[in-house]
Amino acid sequence: MFLITQSVLLKIKLRFFAFIKKSVYALTYKKIIFAVIVKKNTQSIDLISLFCIVDIMLARATFNFWERANLQSLLGDYLLQRLQQDVEGTLQLRVFRCLRNAIIQGVLAPKTRLPASRDLAKEIKVSRNTVLSAYEQLRAQGYVEARTGQGTWIAEKIPESFLIKAENNICLTEENKQNESYNLSQRGSYLVGYSAASPYQWGAFVPGAPDVTEFPHHIFSRIQTRLSREPSVSQLIYSNEGGSIELRQALAEYLTIARSVQCDADQIIITEGTHQAIDLVSRTLSDLGDDVWIEDPAYWGIRNILRINGVHIRALPVDQHGIIPDLDVKESPKLIFVTPSHQYPLGSHLSLERRKQLIAFARQHKSWIIEDDYDSEFRFSGQPYPSLQGLEDDSPVIYMGTFSKTIYPALRIGYLVVPKKLFSPLRVAASELYRGGHLLDQTILAEFIREGHYEAHIRRMRLLYSKRHAFLVDLIHRHLGQNFLHEYNTAAGLHLILKLPSDSNDVLIAANALEKGVKVRALSQYYTKQYSTQHKGLLLGFACVNEQKILIAFGILLECLRDAGIQTLN
Ligand SMILES: Cc1ncc(COP(=O)(O)O)c(C=O)c1O
Repeated sequence: MFLITQSVLLKIKLRFFAFIKKSVYALTYKKIIFAVIVKKNTQSIDLISLFCIVDIMLARATFNFWERANLQSLLGDYLLQRLQQDVEGTLQLRVFRCLRNAIIQGVLAPKTRLPASRDLAKEIKVSRNTVLSAYEQLRAQGYVEARTGQGTWIAEKIPESFLIKAENNICLTEENKQNESYNLSQRGSYLVGYSAASPYQWGAFVPGAPDVTEFPHHIFSRIQTRLSREPSVSQLIYSNEGGSIELRQALAEYLTIARSVQCDADQIIITEGTHQAIDLVSRTLSDLGDDVWIEDPAYWGIRNILRINGVHIRALPVDQHGIIPDLDVKESPKLIFVTPSHQYPLGSHLSLERRKQLIAFARQHKSWIIEDDYDSEFRFSGQPYPSLQGLEDDSPVIYMGTFSKTIYPALRIGYLVVPKKLFSPLRVAASELYRGGHLLDQTILAEFIREGHYEAHIRRMRLLYSKRHAFLVDLIHRHLGQNFLHEYNTAAGLHLILKLPSDSNDVLIAANALEKGVKVRALSQYYTKQYSTQHKGLLLGFACVNEQKILIAFGILLECLRDAGIQTLN
């Protein structure tokens, strides 16, 4: 409450300064106009104009100084308060997050100049380098712009404005104008403040992006045209059964064969992707404050959804055998989120011994394991690892899958395979929370799978991605050396980890690469504060671009690494 009042106060004060400043300018400008109109014929016109111009310049200088000094100390107070609340991660990360929240929430308005790093550092009692790094991270993510010789300014359009484009198009009614001044809830600001979805979803080296241009759209649209001609009533009403029965049946068949999942159609609930599946599971199977385990590092999406659902997140370390479960724990976790086939983002595979340990632990503690099997179709050598869910009969495992990687992300279709006793409550919860639909799209997808196109597409993509993967691995070997390939990397998935020296600044390197048009994500940002300073690297997605583009982007990346003082082989 106190913090909310603080930010409102800061906003009001800043707007007040802006108002006074505008008024004084307006008065002085009026003086000029008056002089020109009324004293048109007098000889003193030039002199009066000159005085007025000097007046304006003085007013500008005074206000700029006054405004900056005020902003500096107000922002200092605001940040000090926020920093006490935000304790996760390094100091630089916390300063960055607090500033980013202030920008997102409009406390710092677009086109405002930020205080000089030295001054802000003094105000909030941190080193100047900490503030400089935070400013740098803000700049890398598009929240501020550095103008040579003129300091750092809040960008006119911050990244969020691209994410909420639709809202911007709505013309402002009176009600909307009032809503603008509302403050976000604590959890709302947390979610927005920790937002990690990148505005860049395509191109070298966006991690996790499949090559959507290779999808056989002509086949899909042929099925679409045929089935859309005369849809049945049941395809046009709300979904109450956990999704289209045709898709659930097709998936049950596919998952049994391809992923060794033990299931039939009435254990499957169709969702609008993994994010919705995580939301459904965490809301219906855990309460506020319950312990939930995730891997460290982990997919940012899991962390953010769990955070807004108010559970207590415990991040457990990962090694070459996958998550290291804390078997002597006092507080049983309600949920355990894992990526057993291909740890995200590192790439290790959960060993058989750990799989058994984890299932035994979950049975004993009445926990649910949620297996995120997001990209296991893409293993380029050897057999794919079977699912954790299918390892034992009646295991406490909820299997989670998505079509985002195998078809394309915008399809927004994912699924959960739940133990029989959970199907009915989760189906009802899904219907209550999301009021599902898109049944016709799901039936079209089912037909696409049933006719064999889905598996054929996966086979073709596996081959294509395997070539791109090999090409990138070869470039890394030749230009950087074996040590730059993370030891948990396997020939699988849609990205790999380029390992960097632990004293390098992967966030800064990623920012520099982005400036040159190469999109990579910093590995350290996938870790919690405990480990983020130790593990440096870059996630390089290789799936969505051809070899020629990989080559060009890799050349640019090498330049960025050299600029950061990292030695390359040639
Ligand atoms: C670990 C992990 N799980 C799931 C997903 C897919 O999420 P969705 O199905 O919501 O597209 C991703 C996407 O990048 C991911 O990295």
